[in-house]
Amino acid sequence: MRAWRYTSTSPTLESNLVLVDNLPLPTLPPSPSEPTLLIRVISASLNPVDYKLPSFPLIGRFIIPRPATPGGDFCGEVVQLSPEGTTRQNAKFKTGDLVFGRLDAPRQGSLGEYMVAPASACAKVPESVEVDAAAAVPTAGLAEYKVLVSGGITEGDRVFINGGIGGTGTLGVQIARAMGCHVTATCPGEKSELCRTLGADVVIDYVKEDVVRALEKEGKVFKMVVDNVGRSERLYAASGRFLVEGGVFVQVGMPSIWRAMLAMIKRTMLPRFMGGGVTKFHLFLIKGGEGLDKLGEMMVEGKLTPHVEKVYEFEQVPEAVAKLREGQCEGKLVVHVGNRD
Ligand SMILES: NC(=O)c1ccc[n+]([C@@H]2O[C@H](COP(=O)([O-])OP(=O)(O)OC[C@H]3O[C@@H](n4cnc5c(N)ncnc54)[C@H](OP(=O)(O)O)[C@@H]3O)[C@@H](O)[C@H]2O)c1
Repeated sequence: MRAWRYTSTSPTLESNLVLVDNLPLPTLPPSPSEPTLLIRVISASLNPVDYKLPSFPLIGRFIIPRPATPGGDFCGEVVQLSPEGTTRQNAKFKTGDLVFGRLDAPRQGSLGEYMVAPASACAKVPESVEVDAAAAVPTAGLAEYKVLVSGGITEGDRVFINGGIGGTGTLGVQIARAMGCHVTATCPGEKSELCRTLGADVVIDYVKEDVVRALEKEGKVFKMVVDNVGRSERLYAASGRFLVEGGVFVQVGMPSIWRAMLAMIKRTMLPRFMGGGVTKFHLFLIKGGEGLDKLGEMMVEGKLTPHVEKVYEFEQVPEAVAKLREGQCEGKLVVHVGNRD
């Protein structure tokens, strides 16, 4: 089979990617601790974690043993199950099923023609949903969905989504809207029309406007802040002035894991005068695939349509990873890995 492989990430993951065309198919463990699937990948989508984790300073190479194939999100066809046959746990899948899903770090491998995934990280692709759309949603869509659901968000609540136009944001805005929320989101002015089309009621141009001031002007009205950017200390420090009593500030975006960990320690453990405890804070880390079925339903109902900025051919993976790292993506980047039939 063919797969993109890397043995180094210096200076970047993409500059080290090599397309190897004679790799053996991955094998399923005969007695896995949980039902496991061998999947022929048709489409994959990229997430920042795909290049961030392998490039993690000092320990990246130990977290993911090399040579390795990057990629976490996928849509593909089940070709084999382990344990073989139908058990109560894996009865939801059979060979030939079209599934979509995601791998939890440090597992990777969707930028290869075949990959292994736990059944718990997969869901069946509903009939009317396109393969590329299914591949586009798992990590970014599930992160936003879980954040909103775990925050007890209900119809009529006001939600602020910081970073409304990237992979997470374009899905988060639609999911919050589908849940009946009033959505305020940030993005550069030239992309505000798209952000509104996806479901934002109010768009703040973060390039031209002072976001904190714009939110403070609204008053204490937001039930939740979903911070997909994670770079502004001032945003959290001011959140007591625009979150309702008991509202929650959830950080999804992690420009650096160390910075995010420090923010969490500071905001949850330190007293208010030292920058902590301003409002309830939660650092979100996605795990597993629970909820993918719900995202599939939302796609069937037309409530969730991933905005895909560009679809790349398999040979263009280094270009796609470079584009994601460069930033300013409008929605998701998808890669065609194999054929539908
Ligand atoms: N915690 C988790 O479980 C989890 C899950 C998924 C993703 N993430 C993290 O979440 C972050 C976002 O992921 P993603 O997939 O959305 O990445 P992405 O597709 O690269 O999108 C990032 C977006 O943020 C926008 N942006 C940059 N600075 C901004 C600012 N100051 N205000 C508003 N928007 C700004 C960029 O657009 P413009 O530059 O055009 O504005 C870009 O579209 C990453 O750090 C990723 O690692 C975490």
